[in-house]
Amino acid sequence: MTLPDELIRDDSTADTAPWWRQAVVYQIYPRSFADASGDGIGDIPGILSRADYLGSLGIDAVWLSPFYPSALADGGYDVADYRDVDPRLGTLDDFDAMVTALHERGLKVVVDIVPNHTSNLHAWFQEALAAGRGSAARDRYIFREGSGPDGAEPPTDWTAAFGGSAWERVEDGQWYLHSFAIEQPDLNWANPEVRADFVKTLRFWSDRGVDGFRIDVAHMLTKDLTEPLPSAAELADMPVDGSHPLLDRDDVHGVYAEWREVFDSYDPPRTAVAEAWVASDRVPLYASPTSLGQSFNFDLLVADFDAAQFRDIVTRNIALAARSGSSSTWVLSNHDVFRHATRYGLPVPPEDSAVPKRHGGGWLEAGADQGVLDRAAGERRARAATLFVLGLPGSAYLYQGEELGLHEVAEIPADQRQDPTFFRTHQEQFGRDGARVPLPWTASGPSFGFGDDGAHLPQPAWFAEYAVSVEDGDPDSTLSLYRRALALRHELQTAEDLEWIETGRADVLHFRRPNGWEVVTNFGTEPFALDAGEVLVSSGRSGSAGAVPGETTVWLSGH
Ligand code: GLC
Repeated sequence: MTLPDELIRDDSTADTAPWWRQAVVYQIYPRSFADASGDGIGDIPGILSRADYLGSLGIDAVWLSPFYPSALADGGYDVADYRDVDPRLGTLDDFDAMVTALHERGLKVVVDIVPNHTSNLHAWFQEALAAGRGSAARDRYIFREGSGPDGAEPPTDWTAAFGGSAWERVEDGQWYLHSFAIEQPDLNWANPEVRADFVKTLRFWSDRGVDGFRIDVAHMLTKDLTEPLPSAAELADMPVDGSHPLLDRDDVHGVYAEWREVFDSYDPPRTAVAEAWVASDRVPLYASPTSLGQSFNFDLLVADFDAAQFRDIVTRNIALAARSGSSSTWVLSNHDVFRHATRYGLPVPPEDSAVPKRHGGGWLEAGADQGVLDRAAGERRARAATLFVLGLPGSAYLYQGEELGLHEVAEIPADQRQDPTFFRTHQEQFGRDGARVPLPWTASGPSFGFGDDGAHLPQPAWFAEYAVSVEDGDPDSTLSLYRRALALRHELQTAEDLEWIETGRADVLHFRRPNGWEVVTNFGTEPFALDAGEVLVSSGRSGSAGAVPGETTVWLSGH
């Protein structure tokens, strides 16, 4: 499937472009942002109480990870009701009040839609269990008979993303498919009722003033489950080119074409961004204006702090975005990976090392030697990488806490971990809890100002140094750097383009935006001499006249 020329739009000029093209979107993981009710779980009134903080950052939009009713088998990505708020997080009225407060501060609101699977507590799944084999209720999910004598073996040997079999047996002996946790049964997207219900959900939130949607595992919805089902080994040998039975199928765009009609029926049109883990050349399909309109680029999540890797990623992704007429997206951290301050502070294992790549998406092995974290180096590099990314054309997605320079929390006791990855891999992989620890707002208090009581994941003592109240007034803090850079970015924003300027050094990148805004990043340790240009902002804590210090980014007014 390729994109016809007539579908490629060009509305990339900064002044007239739709808001999302070069937006800075701040991701909130609601259960860990701010807790107004004092039960240890962050909530919607907590977000409302921090509306001024969000307004003070200089971001354009807020994206909320799921806040829907959920038993939290997968951090809220197991949704029991798509059109309500989890009672522990508030009410629909609270949600409306939050949207109003964010809109008043000029911030758009994006919510997460999880269409590949529901929670096993969703009314539909409960109905499917009760209704039995061959029922219309079971057809909303993917039920099959087992293999082997008495069907006691799963239908196939497929494994779930969190480890273990991708099939679970129910009481009457049938099995259902769950690509993620057992509590997350996959929906059957060939069923028209499933399709209709998600359209209803998109309208429900759009009618409440939501500006856009982040689509969870957007490449997995449609499946070809024609019998006989292939084995895991056969699946692995099949090309992922649009015809694979489970992944990145061309027919998923039929679903999104229908959604596009919904988005475009609003004024302004609602937006969407795909979480699609697909090969680079398939990304433009999701970012196309007839599909979701924008797609995450996760390349920086698995890159080292390295000039050549960063330059390749930027060049490739700008070209890819141009192919669909969408804008590029840049992500250094999110709720699924180790925070970037930590990734950049851990030693890079040699290519031939048996130790898993530590920054490879955050799915680290708990048992493996993690190396020694250089906290200061990690922060220095993270600040430099962030300032580099914020200078790029396109849209940047930030994750709560990165503006404080927060590190991953490694020291969570096994009995307090929540991520199914940890349990399904028999504690071999930490999973993602360390990036989801409730934020420190104050240097002291029961949960560092997160709420009046505890925090649902334990906060380490070192969180005190990173508290918002500590960083707020400190011009050298990471929070001050983010605020300065985001304010400047609004002033400097220009057409979505860049030109590389050769530096004569393999470890220094330099680019210029169309209006003369320049960005120089020194990925090495030797200072890099600047010949001209006024330094507007620097990621470094100590200035050095006429040079960019090691592991530092500066923005220049151009020359
Ligand atoms: C996405 C989410 C992740 C979740 C998974 C299953 O990758 O980002 O947090 O576990 O989908 O919904």
